[in-house]
Amino acid sequence: MRMDDAIKRLNALRKEAELGGGVDKIKKQHEQGKLTARERIDYLVDPGSFIEFDAFVTHRIYDFGMQERKILGDGVVSGVAKILGRDVAIFSHDFTVFGGTLSEAFGLKVMKIMDLALKLGIPIIGLNDSGGARIQEGVVSLAAYAEIFWRNTQASGVIPQISAIMGPCAGGAVYSPALTDFIFMVRKTSYMFITGPEVVKTVTHEDVTFDELGGAEIHATKSGIAHFVYDNDQQCLDGIKKLLSYLPQNNLEDPPVINSEDDPEREVPELNEVIPDDPNKPYVMRDIILKIVDYDSFFEVHKDYAPNIIVGFARLDGEVVGLVAQEPSIMAGVLDIHSSIKAARFIRFCDCFNIPIVTFEDVPGFLPGTDQEHGGIIKHGAKLLYAYCEATVPKITVITRKSYGGAYCVLGSKQVRADINLAWPTAELAVMGPEGAVNIIFRKEIADAPNPQEIRQKLIEEYRSKFANPYVAASRGYIDDIIEPKNTRKILIKYLKLLKTKRERTPPRKHGNIPL
Ligand code: HXC
Repeated sequence: MRMDDAIKRLNALRKEAELGGGVDKIKKQHEQGKLTARERIDYLVDPGSFIEFDAFVTHRIYDFGMQERKILGDGVVSGVAKILGRDVAIFSHDFTVFGGTLSEAFGLKVMKIMDLALKLGIPIIGLNDSGGARIQEGVVSLAAYAEIFWRNTQASGVIPQISAIMGPCAGGAVYSPALTDFIFMVRKTSYMFITGPEVVKTVTHEDVTFDELGGAEIHATKSGIAHFVYDNDQQCLDGIKKLLSYLPQNNLEDPPVINSEDDPEREVPELNEVIPDDPNKPYVMRDIILKIVDYDSFFEVHKDYAPNIIVGFARLDGEVVGLVAQEPSIMAGVLDIHSSIKAARFIRFCDCFNIPIVTFEDVPGFLPGTDQEHGGIIKHGAKLLYAYCEATVPKITVITRKSYGGAYCVLGSKQVRADINLAWPTAELAVMGPEGAVNIIFRKEIADAPNPQEIRQKLIEEYRSKFANPYVAASRGYIDDIIEPKNTRKILIKYLKLLKTKRERTPPRKHGNIPL
């Protein structure tokens, strides 16, 4: 064949591949408010940076008349690109081709790109819009999924793995994202379930809508599976870009540092007024965080799930930190099952990827009660404890008010190897709050007293002045310093710079056994 004819053929085939399932299906995708697989990549990556792999791959089966239905690319667009100037590997499901379902050939394309990402030490991004295993391919499709799951696990903690759910995703198309570090969803167009409403009806006779079963809202608030939710594809892709700006390329690199325009010596005088005189009155921790970190740098993770704890990335003098903080204005910032799991997962991510952890602590303790006990607060709370103990990245804890009971131990105490422990003068470090403590240790004295209420109040005051302050802990060196709240930003920045050379090794072992 002559070269110009060969080039014509190549261009025609490339054009065909670019059309995926065809114009009608693309139209349907748009009518549903969704971008196509290629439009998503175009929107996400730096212009002109996408290098596609395997555009001419087709499936290999002959059953169910499938030999007549071969589509170039076979339902997934994959390759490498740059985002904000840094390399990423990317695959994007094409719902217009057999509902974005995974065949053997499709699976091999995804595996190729995952292997490359691991070899190059670059993040992998999956844009998922898929009905799961392609039913026509049977166990071959399941085997391909299992290969992908294995790769997700090998890559875990080595390169950041980011999943966006951008359509109805079922089966393997949710289990692979579940193995990755972060899941993004889009309201009204994305769903995650192990199987859809129709199968649910057949198996359990339950009538349930897509949204009720696995919509973005449910997963962002109830199951905690989605870390981020957005209103449309574009916002979701912007969110991925933003997340990447806080992350290193792999576990051997540090996160990117930027030149901060915020003064590292900046004092925040209003923080000296922020803690209410009454220790039972709430205040908003999120506002404190926003005032301390570099201007406009806080990027909250899992915002709508277990909001009694806050986790997210931010910058201090341009350096990335992972923040963990209780929110006293929601359930008094108590630790419960969901908040423990949420924070434990976040801390482990930060530890994998060399991101220092800064904790702001004001917590009355673990939430008591049958709900929590029967739900396994012991093992779930232990996850958080384990995560803090295990993390070897720099750890700084600032106690703003309450640090009671188990929460003292768990949330980055000196004894779980936080590097720097600071307290505001309003900090209270004790086994429990004054009221509870007095009721237990002076029960008999109070009951026998002629004026029980008066005695009780007196004992509470005594207890408060003796223990509900940071000085007992500071006298033992459990607190390195007691600081004025207004100086918190500049002090944190100084300590973070000091800790940059921190090296800590854990004993050699295959892996630990976090209580799951
Ligand atoms: C083959 C499939 C398919 C599948 C959908 N399609 N799912 N083809 N295998 N699993 C095809 C449809 O036949 C249709 O083809 C096109 O994709 C679009 O699907 P629709 O049903 O028309 O779209 P929609 O109404 O939007 O519903 C999407 C859906 C639904 C919610 C994903 O199709 C569905 O529930 N599919 C089954 C999902 C499922 O149970 N998967 C689990 C697989 S098991 P045409 O030609 O008409 O366009 C699995 C195991 C992995 O993944 C292991 C986990 C550990």
